[in-house]
Amino acid sequence: MIQLARLTDLPDRDAALRGLEEIFFLSALRTGFASGRERADFFRTWAGWYLGHAPANVWFALDGEGAVLGYLTGCKDSAGAGAAGLDGTIPKYEVFADLFAAFPAHLHVNVRPEHRSAGLGRRLVDRFAEDCAADGLAGVHLVTGAEARNAAFYRRAGFTEEHRRGPLLFLGRRLDTRGGILPA
Ligand SMILES: CC(C)(COP(=O)(O)OP(=O)(O)OC[C@H]1O[C@@H](n2cnc3c(N)ncnc32)[C@H](O)[C@@H]1OP(=O)(O)O)[C@@H](O)C(=O)NCCC(=O)NCCS
Repeated sequence: MIQLARLTDLPDRDAALRGLEEIFFLSALRTGFASGRERADFFRTWAGWYLGHAPANVWFALDGEGAVLGYLTGCKDSAGAGAAGLDGTIPKYEVFADLFAAFPAHLHVNVRPEHRSAGLGRRLVDRFAEDCAADGLAGVHLVTGAEARNAAFYRRAGFTEEHRRGPLLFLGRRLDTRGGILPA
């Protein structure tokens, strides 16, 4: 039995964050770090803002014993978060800033390798999208590599608006602000 829960609703947040960090490094394209400090900085760059500023938008997929199988870090106001620190932290954050009005929310999602292709990533993305739609947001997006395998996963999940700029691919999903999610 898989459950989805927000970081802010978990009884043992430290254990959840340890699980998140482990999956983060199992999923990262970068593997070599010159020092423990460089490794910690890399984690802080990509996850620190979300954990510190938007813990209610950090979602976990947990098994029956509470082990973390996957997570999503989300932000509901990409423009505001850019001004408040994400721009200048996440590399190339500003490249798609002109699309933030139409797709205000963004996300990062990773699943433990042995639990991939079982629908967990889709459930996490749908849960965050549902939450954003309930707040009246017009769309949600993510940025990935133009040649990344995960692009097919997002397209199937309704991220049909595409913009390629250099090596980066923006994928956006429109949300139905009248109370539902537009069909994928
Ligand atoms: C992309 C990812 C979050 C999807 O979660 P998931 O639980 O595997 O997703 P679902 O079961 O709902 O969908 C499966 C699809 O995910 C994608 N996927 C699965 N394994 C993947 C991997 N190692 N790398 C990239 N994409 C992968 C594929 O498109 C797959 O479809 P396929 O089996 O037909 O090829 C997850 O596979 C993952 O963590 N991948 C590695 C890290 C990554 O790419 N994260 C996204 C960064 S933008």
